[in-house]
Amino acid sequence: MELDGKVAIVTGAGSGIGRATALAFAKAGCSVVVADIDEVGGNETVGLVHDAGGTAMFTRVDVTEPRSLEAMFEAAAAEYGGVDIVHNNAGLVSGEPLWPDITPETLLRVMSVNLGGVVVGTQLAIPYLRKRGGGAIVNTASMASLYPMTVDPIYSATKAGVTMFTKACAPLAEEGIRVNAVLPGLVNTALLPKSGDGARWADWAYAARDAMGMMEPSVVADAVLALCRDDTAVAREQVVGALPPGDAHGDDLQVDNLHVDDGDT
Ligand SMILES: NC(=O)c1ccc[n+]([C@@H]2O[C@H](COP(=O)([O-])OP(=O)(O)OC[C@H]3O[C@@H](n4cnc5c(N)ncnc54)[C@H](O)[C@@H]3O)[C@@H](O)[C@H]2O)c1
Repeated sequence: MELDGKVAIVTGAGSGIGRATALAFAKAGCSVVVADIDEVGGNETVGLVHDAGGTAMFTRVDVTEPRSLEAMFEAAAAEYGGVDIVHNNAGLVSGEPLWPDITPETLLRVMSVNLGGVVVGTQLAIPYLRKRGGGAIVNTASMASLYPMTVDPIYSATKAGVTMFTKACAPLAEEGIRVNAVLPGLVNTALLPKSGDGARWADWAYAARDAMGMMEPSVVADAVLALCRDDTAVAREQVVGALPPGDAHGDDLQVDNLHVDDGDT
């Protein structure tokens, strides 16, 4: 898919990976809908796109609310005439207190944002993409979908859900709608302080950084754009970054359609 002139929606674009993707889409010539529950962050991203000479608008969305997601698609169509690309990216970690001391309400919120937001965001995108004769959806999963994250099991479970959902959407490609996922390792974003008490990283985040290193959000953005451009990419699980060394699962990891790179996409 040629990106120039397309309309791209990015959820969770008020920060981190979503902000980087929004900027990258804008630099590639897309009109970008910056969607986030955080109005301040979202408007900052729009300002950054404008500073870079790109086209963007902010729309507030709570991805756990179907009507809010519907309003996001309607806003994109009203402002830019349609939708070609959706990056279902909004997500969060559980934070402290960690499992099993976490509240049931937080568990349900993480499920609803990380998995529910992706599933419903994909469903509601379909009629808009059909009107354009097809399009690209990229869902943000995580390497935590491949390795059990024992300190935050619900995070791993939702991300594994995102990858399986993505694979199960493969038949949409018959009508030109390609659904793919990115599986980043550790990324330097505001998510990391949220892994602890809200101000500092959790111990597991420091351990993950020491084991895996950490990449900048632009590396993930490059992978998202590459999946959108590559018309052969269907139901692909695109790992971004190096898989953790020495993991018991590492050597014999066999996943259909798993693509591994070192962040050079
Ligand atoms: N940072 C990492 O190490 C890492 C690694 C792998 C995957 N991810 C995934 O990448 C995605 C982006 O995370 P990030 O690292 O950029 O974090 P971030 O905290 O910087 O950004 C997440 C954004 O999602 C928004 N958001 C949260 N709940 C929302 C809701 N209900 N509706 C709409 N927006 C909502 C937040 O306001 C925030 O702007 C997430 O899905 C995360 O799980 C992150």
